[in-house]
Amino acid sequence: MFEHVHDVPPPGAAPDWTIPQDWDGFGAEEHAMWDRLFARQCAMLPGRAASAFLRGIDVLKLSRPGIPDYRELNARLMDATGWQVVAVPGLVPDDVFFDHLANRRFPAGNFIRRPEQLDYLKEPDVFHDVFGHVPMLADPVFADYMVAYGKGGLRSLGFGALHKLARLYWYTVEFGLIEEAGALRIYGAGIVSSYGESVFALDNPSPNRIGFDLLRMMRTEYRIDDFQQNYFVIPSLDHLLKVTVETDFGPLYDRLETLPDIAIADILPDDQVITRGTQHYALSKAGA
Ligand code: PHE
Ligand code: FE
Repeated sequence: MFEHVHDVPPPGAAPDWTIPQDWDGFGAEEHAMWDRLFARQCAMLPGRAASAFLRGIDVLKLSRPGIPDYRELNARLMDATGWQVVAVPGLVPDDVFFDHLANRRFPAGNFIRRPEQLDYLKEPDVFHDVFGHVPMLADPVFADYMVAYGKGGLRSLGFGALHKLARLYWYTVEFGLIEEAGALRIYGAGIVSSYGESVFALDNPSPNRIGFDLLRMMRTEYRIDDFQQNYFVIPSLDHLLKVTVETDFGPLYDRLETLPDIAIADILPDDQVITRGTQHYALSKAGA
């Protein structure tokens, strides 16, 4: 989902790019960095994070101090949904990534950010990957969505449509919002693992919040360098799974060839607009 750096596994990595987690190799400062990030996020997530996410934190006992030891974490995750976390050196090629997902393995970067990178880093670290992604993988419906996405990702390569499908990942897995009991909640890993964005995504009047629509999302550009200007809202995890699994993306990819991309902040007449954003945040950053 990000640009990758290498084309072959680096020395010490297996052909599927995995490496041993080597949990005993993490030092005290690295565990302390996890604890600091964990405490900061947990303080604000009740009432903001989706109930499935909060349940995942609980079921997986992620509140235990330190970077999670995958030997323990994977035993709990396996019981919940059959998923496993595997350590990788950093970003992996798209086909490798999809193959892991299709087989219920989530690749997690095996390093943690440094104090000067508290709020922004280019490559996902273990905090983003494990705290951000893994709680949702303990939810049976979301777990099945991620498997289907991995298989769909492998299939998209044959259509040359990876770029379009990647937008669906971006607007669901990374930056998705969900409606629960009439209120918006966050479930996207990019939001729940970010201090600033977990407030911005729900409370700030700047971004658009638009109802889930597969084709619309796969046409919409996104930004990787700042808070999003659009969020897409799913009515439920069941709906997300059902629509993506029951839709044959082949014809969608063909149609996408003929449809123009949608600029980041544009609203279309057919959009189900939940919040029409002011975009003042993005505009002020652009110096307007
Ligand atoms: N049903 C999709 C296809 O035909 C696969 C898919 C499932 C894609 C879930 C994304 C998410 O390719
Ligand atoms: Fe991520």
